[in-house]
Amino acid sequence: MKQIKTILVTGASSGIGLEMAKILAARNYRLVLASRSSERLEDVATELRRTTSAEVSTFAVDLSAPEAAEHLFEFCEAQRFQIDILINNAGFGILDEHVAIDPKKLRQMLQLNVIAVAELCQTFGAQMKRRRSGIILNVASTAAYQATPYFAAYGASKSFVLCLSEALAKELEDYDVQVSCLAPGPTDTAFFDAIDPQKITEGHFFQKAGRTDVRTVAQAGVDLLDHGGMTRVVGLSNRLAVLGNRFLPRSIVASVSKRLLKPVDKKNSVQ
Ligand SMILES: NC(=O)c1ccc[n+]([C@@H]2O[C@H](COP(=O)([O-])OP(=O)(O)OC[C@H]3O[C@@H](n4cnc5c(N)ncnc54)[C@H](OP(=O)(O)O)[C@@H]3O)[C@@H](O)[C@H]2O)c1
Repeated sequence: MKQIKTILVTGASSGIGLEMAKILAARNYRLVLASRSSERLEDVATELRRTTSAEVSTFAVDLSAPEAAEHLFEFCEAQRFQIDILINNAGFGILDEHVAIDPKKLRQMLQLNVIAVAELCQTFGAQMKRRRSGIILNVASTAAYQATPYFAAYGASKSFVLCLSEALAKELEDYDVQVSCLAPGPTDTAFFDAIDPQKITEGHFFQKAGRTDVRTVAQAGVDLLDHGGMTRVVGLSNRLAVLGNRFLPRSIVASVSKRLLKPVDKKNSVQ
């Protein structure tokens, strides 16, 4: 990694974002942590300040609100933070039939997973391009690589993140700006707290036993920052699955996804 000073992590109060923040704080960078809960962010910041000599700032923001990404950018401008690394990590998923999802929740998810990511890439990316230096790391998912029935809009949002990242990697490489994309599979975080546990019991693809440890995923993200690379799928089995997808008709892959992702409480409903 180059001599980088300030790192902005969205979704830093929990899960993958928090673990990446811990790893990076131990290297004594200046961190700017963003998520909705100011209380949790302050707790994280206090702990990082106590255990490392990193400078830590926080900004509580709901990135599912229109213009929130702009407010985050303006905050960094007002504080005169030059963001050298942007980690677009905040996101959530909804496991259900697409037609059954609360429209408000759907809009919030798309605003957070898609629009905010695109906007933050644009504002901070423009600065990095001008400076001819910087790194953007976007967190997608293995869900990005195929249609994901019952996780339809979430998977599609992560396909957007993956394609956006890979395209930006090519656009910005001419200006020495690195854009990378991390694609974790199911990871043991609070991500699954938002899903009704009845939906993911008894051998469901998301059941707890099959999830990767969060530290492993966070470390894979930090490795991307350190060593570069356009995309990293985390874990051998996930890499093999993504590879296998390329050789099968998309309809077959979608059918397999359907079997894996169908909520347990819908298993006896019409096929
Ligand atoms: N866990 C998995 O299986 C998995 C797999 C593949 C990809 N991912 C992706 O990894 C990323 C991190 O997820 P995670 O697993 O670490 O989940 P997590 O533990 O639930 O963390 C999500 C983080 O995002 C923040 N956040 C949520 N909604 C937000 C909003 N509207 N505005 C600002 N911040 C918000 C949360 O903080 P607040 O609640 O305080 O806002 C939290 O810090 C997500 O993009 C997710 O899609 C996760």
